[in-house]
Amino acid sequence: MSSADTSKLIAELDRLAGEFAGEIGGLATEEEIRNAQARYLGKKGKVSDLMKALGKLPPAERPAVGEAANRAKSSIERAVGERLAALAEASLSADLARVVDVTLPPRGASLGTLHPLTLVRREIEEIFLGLGFAVRTGPWIETEWNNFDALNTPPDHPARDMQDTFFVEGGRILRSHTSPVQIRTMLAGPPPIRIVAPGNVFRRDDDATHTPMFPQMEGLYVDKDVSFADLKGTLLHFVQRFFGPNLGIRLRPSYFPFTEPSAEVDAACYLCAGSGQSRGEPASSARRVPSREGPGTLPGVPGQIDGRGCRLCKGSGWIEIGGSGMVHPNVFRAVGYDPETVTGFAFGMGLSRMAMLKYEVDDLRAFYEHDARFLAQFR
Ligand code: PHE
Repeated sequence: MSSADTSKLIAELDRLAGEFAGEIGGLATEEEIRNAQARYLGKKGKVSDLMKALGKLPPAERPAVGEAANRAKSSIERAVGERLAALAEASLSADLARVVDVTLPPRGASLGTLHPLTLVRREIEEIFLGLGFAVRTGPWIETEWNNFDALNTPPDHPARDMQDTFFVEGGRILRSHTSPVQIRTMLAGPPPIRIVAPGNVFRRDDDATHTPMFPQMEGLYVDKDVSFADLKGTLLHFVQRFFGPNLGIRLRPSYFPFTEPSAEVDAACYLCAGSGQSRGEPASSARRVPSREGPGTLPGVPGQIDGRGCRLCKGSGWIEIGGSGMVHPNVFRAVGYDPETVTGFAFGMGLSRMAMLKYEVDDLRAFYEHDARFLAQFR
């Protein structure tokens, strides 16, 4: 290679710097600029390409070419820096020139609502607090003894099948009712005891009217001379406060291992005042469940169909609200109470069922799907 090649190389380097300066003016984004920079100065870029010939030049001529390469490099880098600064400047002035209308009214803050199951739990708690009951809670993971044995339900007792149970590690279970809170409370101290125990319970059930976890509220009253009449009066008071004054209750003989005698509790239907008749009133009290068939608005509630009976109690005049009974002597023995000196009553109800009845919600799943259109109705 000769000195003619050397001057050609130097001229080519200078030309590249000029070419870049011409190109960069048309580039509008930092990305385009960085890409162009790489096309010239990158490992496979135009400048590096030319420099491959450097090794073939006589050693004495190499410094002059190196100098030209550095010149081209700094000229390209300077052009990049200036162009980026100009872009930043332009975007800042565009920002400053923007007009903001400060007179626009603000968007309203949307407040959340309490979940219907929370509303119902609090309302029921209030009613029993007013009667001198205390609210007690306990753990979801329980011993079989607290959940069954102490409640007069030994391992071979068929009632264990009534409440299909979840077993967890370490021989424990997920409580199938909140009755173990009654056991815990009695073990912790002597009577008198007046508590309600709200909380989630778990059973192997999953269909349109059952979820594997559901909230319950149980009550327990233990003292000297607590009678079945006290149970009846307490439940009657509760129903009249929760569903409406003047409503009656009905107790039907039933069976629970931990109570004797036991009774299912029905309340007179508040919607038809126990008549079972539909009176054609609008379904204004009902909360609507969003349609499952695609998006859309809340469907209307089917109105009264005269002649077919009340829509809530299905024409029977009664709505089922839970179980109850007088505490079994074996339960008292298990917690060290003397069944000869104390008596007591207990009751239990499902809070989702109470919410379905109170708000006329016809699909249990609505409580667990967190659809804001459904929840916003509980203001
Ligand atoms: N523990 C019962 C259940 O969950 C309800 C109940 C409580 C029944 C107290 C009677 C007395 O099925």
